[in-house]
Amino acid sequence: MSTTTRAIFSPIQVGNNNLQHRVVLAPLTRLRATLDAVPTDLQAEYYKQRASEGGLMITEGTFIHRLAGHYELAPGIYTQEQIKGWKKITSAVHEKKAVIFLQLWHLGRSGHSKWNPNGERAVSASAVPLSGKNRYGDDHEVPRPLEIDEIKVIVEQYRQAALNAIEAGFDGVELHSANGYLLDQFINSGTNHRTDIYGGSAENRARFTLEAIDAIVQAIGPERTAIRLSPGEVFQDMHDDTEVETWSHITSELQKNHPQLAYLHFVQSRANIFGNDKQIVPLNTLQPYRQIWKGPFITASGFTTAVEAGLDLAESTGNLIAFGRAFIANPDLPERLRHGWELNPYNRSTFYTQGPVGYTDYPFYNAAKN
Ligand SMILES: Cc1cc2nc3c(=O)[nH]c(=O)nc-3n(C[C@H](O)[C@H](O)[C@H](O)COP(=O)(O)O)c2cc1C
Repeated sequence: MSTTTRAIFSPIQVGNNNLQHRVVLAPLTRLRATLDAVPTDLQAEYYKQRASEGGLMITEGTFIHRLAGHYELAPGIYTQEQIKGWKKITSAVHEKKAVIFLQLWHLGRSGHSKWNPNGERAVSASAVPLSGKNRYGDDHEVPRPLEIDEIKVIVEQYRQAALNAIEAGFDGVELHSANGYLLDQFINSGTNHRTDIYGGSAENRARFTLEAIDAIVQAIGPERTAIRLSPGEVFQDMHDDTEVETWSHITSELQKNHPQLAYLHFVQSRANIFGNDKQIVPLNTLQPYRQIWKGPFITASGFTTAVEAGLDLAESTGNLIAFGRAFIANPDLPERLRHGWELNPYNRSTFYTQGPVGYTDYPFYNAAKN
């Protein structure tokens, strides 16, 4: 079968958008914003390069509030200046008729009081610290468990961030409820030892995430709301005792209460790509959730080093496939896949550096080579 006739290149309706293909830009933190977390012209160039007609792009994780955590040069969506910065990006990608969702981020215990304006302690579901050191070489601190009132405040921050994203011109938002960050720390039993209505059963551990979705849907509508989940993820010490039950519950609730969500985005488990450049055979662990969710379904993780497996999965399931590292290195990834052209290799050493090197200088495929 020629690549162009494969399912990955067939159209699909996602929220209010009619996508022309299913090759998705995965959310990728690249640390090219300003110190005030304002998106830059360089970021606009990067996203514009990766925009394709009818293609879906998800932005890097973006802080919903100054206290949602802080990585130097990661962007936010809580000031007017940030909204203005993002407008340049959404205009640039809309010129190329692409669709762009903003990923809403709160670090939870992966944050650190050192980066908070008044030394506020990092927060989480329970006082369970992350092992090892953070990216600045500090020990992770013991997080402060959130009070119920504070959970309500953060739900409100997600809602406001979603409204800000729409003001900035985004087509929708993706709630980051994956990869061991705040909402995932509530979902996983390993990090949630609470005894109130946010802890214990799968239903209780999922409550914060589902409340955040309710609030966002209420503010901007289900067609502009999406979520990323990572069942069984081990990154950042995640562990859950009831994996299939937990994420089946979340998926069922979303199907029942919000069947019009733009998409659900699942990261396949145990394909740890952070620091691993070896080929990973993606495990087919998402079937239980795929069966429950009737709408658009994105699968991610490991397809950069197993491109053909991604194309095959799209063929057998109709899923959209998110590519991370391959999209970093190939601004024209959809075209390259469509034509079966070779891919540029990615350079891990420039993932988190500053400036255009390893960011906007990866070459487009030169068709003349053919
Ligand atoms: C440099 C880098 C930054 C990432 N940043 C984020 C992020 O901000 N939010 C997120 O949900 N996932 C993030 N991820 C995970 C990717 O979205 C994706 O799931 C992962 O790269 C696996 O896909 P791949 O095998 O195609 O690279 C990041 C991955 C990399 C390599």
